Amino acid sequence: MSQFFFDSALRCPVCGATQLQKLPMDKGQQSFYCRECESEIVTPTDQCCVFCAFGSDKCLVSQGWEDLLRRQLKEKMKNKESKTIPKFIPALGFNFLTGLYDTTISLTMPEKKFRKLLIKKLNPQPDEKIFEFGFGTGANLVLATQKSPNSHFHGLDIDPKVSSIAFAKLRDRDICVDLRLYDGGTFPYNNAEFDKAYSCLVFHQLDEVVKLESLKELHRVLKPGSKLIIGDWGKAKTQWMRIAFYTVQLLDGFKTTTANVKGLLPDYIREAGFSDVRETAFINTRIGSFCYYEGIKK
Ligand SMILES: C[S@@+](CC[C@H](N)C(=O)[O-])C[C@H]1O[C@@H](n2cnc3c(N)ncnc32)[C@H](O)[C@@H]1O
Repeated sequence: MSQFFFDSALRCPVCGATQLQKLPMDKGQQSFYCRECESEIVTPTDQCCVFCAFGSDKCLVSQGWEDLLRRQLKEKMKNKESKTIPKFIPALGFNFLTGLYDTTISLTMPEKKFRKLLIKKLNPQPDEKIFEFGFGTGANLVLATQKSPNSHFHGLDIDPKVSSIAFAKLRDRDICVDLRLYDGGTFPYNNAEFDKAYSCLVFHQLDEVVKLESLKELHRVLKPGSKLIIGDWGKAKTQWMRIAFYTVQLLDGFKTTTANVKGLLPDYIREAGFSDVRETAFINTRIGSFCYYEGIKK
């Protein structure tokens, strides 16, 4: 997404003064106040918004980022073996709930604690190239870039809706991350590109085949000797945790979540080629046992 411009210098048509403004995600802004001559400038009727009319860079919709993402997906589907619309489980199980994802996580899980521990385990270092698989609304990327502003973060997700939330969140914080969408097949990266990879709350949403395919792709894109860190639902540590986890299973379905709660994720990680696979920690939450797994690419 680095081809998009996030700021635009608005030029006042009355006095010629310019002022830099962040671009909104939609066509919303129809007027602005010139800080110099205090005129209220309104979008001409034949223009989309003030940025398209008076800005050095047009609004993000006109720059075409949403269209570009959709086009990328369509083209992939035309050219590739996959002839169906990419299937995936949205962040909260249903597409219409995606906008509530951040609030739901903060209410049902000890969010600060589990994300902080994930980033602590990731231990990002300057100049490392780090990949998040299934970045969702970008919450981990915000924390990780705060902890290590000089690492290079990359994110991949399958859902355009959740990606636009992440895109807006990162843009509002001036965080530069290479976010990409794909159709669920091969990751759009070269072999051995990354120094580290991580993923959080994604694997319980993938069926058996996709779990393994995705882990093999994670293995492919990591440099030899580098680490994969996964935070996700694991084997329930108590009877109560097992009962509580039915909440997640009702939202996300039993097909994808059963392997997680049976504690099988480490077996999948091993099968994809990782060595030294182990569970390194867990946190019991209101809705299940959240576990941390690690593996090394040989
Ligand atoms: C529950 S959310 C977790 C989001 C984020 N990682 C977090 O920690 O909050 C699961 C994410 O996985 C993504 N996802 C689901 N299937 C995927 C797939 N096959 N490839 C990549 N991402 C996928 C969803 O779009 C969603 O953003």
